[in-house]
Amino acid sequence: MKNKKEFNVMIFGATGMVGIEVLYQCINRSQIKRVVAVGRRPTGVKNLKLNEIEHHNFLDYTPLKPVFSDVDICFYCIGVYQGKVATAKFLEITCDYLAHLIDSIETVKEDITFCLFSAQGADPTERSPILFAKAKGRAEKKLLNSKIYRKFIFRPGFINPGIKRARSRIPARIVKPFYKLIPGIGVDSSVLASVMVDVGLALITLELVCLFVSIGIIVNFIVLQIPMLDKHLSKKYGDEFEEYAKQTKKFIPLVY
Ligand SMILES: NC(=O)c1ccc[n+]([C@@H]2O[C@H](COP(=O)([O-])OP(=O)(O)OC[C@H]3O[C@@H](n4cnc5c(N)ncnc54)[C@H](OP(=O)(O)O)[C@@H]3O)[C@@H](O)[C@H]2O)c1
Repeated sequence: MKNKKEFNVMIFGATGMVGIEVLYQCINRSQIKRVVAVGRRPTGVKNLKLNEIEHHNFLDYTPLKPVFSDVDICFYCIGVYQGKVATAKFLEITCDYLAHLIDSIETVKEDITFCLFSAQGADPTERSPILFAKAKGRAEKKLLNSKIYRKFIFRPGFINPGIKRARSRIPARIVKPFYKLIPGIGVDSSVLASVMVDVGLALITLELVCLFVSIGIIVNFIVLQIPMLDKHLSKKYGDEFEEYAKQTKKFIPLVY
């Protein structure tokens, strides 16, 4: 795998706000030779690299098994907002779809990179009383316990829409002003997609440019975003925040 120069990727959820950005990123990367987008409807994107597969039963991936054997990286961007569907359906979409996919991929090949789009607050211990935190945590745990060789989980907070709008029940126009004020609470969908693709590619190609971009973004959060946010909270809430900060465990031991 390390000696490969070109990679085949597979995207689940390429019709969504984040998935479409991942799709464009993949199409524009020279290291990516072929992109397979699996979804229940077409993405509307036309490109020679792209092959779309219409699939409707996300609890059975048998027809896709021949495709899996040729895939190097899988980007999983299927998701539904809590409250948009009944609880049982929410759990099915968030956890069972992914669980069946992982089980199915494992029967074909374990030497694959899997990038899961999760969410801030995901709780793999499933102790959280919040449904979405529990469900996202359960999905993460499934991936973490799988035999897949390389697995990455992305937990964004607010996502600032790019090409496509979010289907969230909380309209972006309500959250956007906060995002402008405190950019550290979220990420642009295009940046998120770019990081996902960089990370997916970096560790299998060992390509330093991709690795440096990913490290740069992480360092930006540690060196710029987090101190900026802390400063803002300290200015706004004064002693109350300082007291809270003293009692709260550090996010990165000895740093924040
Ligand atoms: N917006 C935020 O600020 C934010 C932040 C962190 C995490 N999240 C998480 O992001 C996820 C949503 O991502 P997004 O904004 O990219 O969502 P989106 O635009 O609604 O796209 C969701 C994708 O999942 C697919 N999908 C949904 N239900 C499906 C089903 N029953 N069967 C097959 N495919 C299905 C959709 O396909 P169709 O096009 O066919 O419907 C689409 O491709 C949610 O799980 C949310 O928790 C959002």
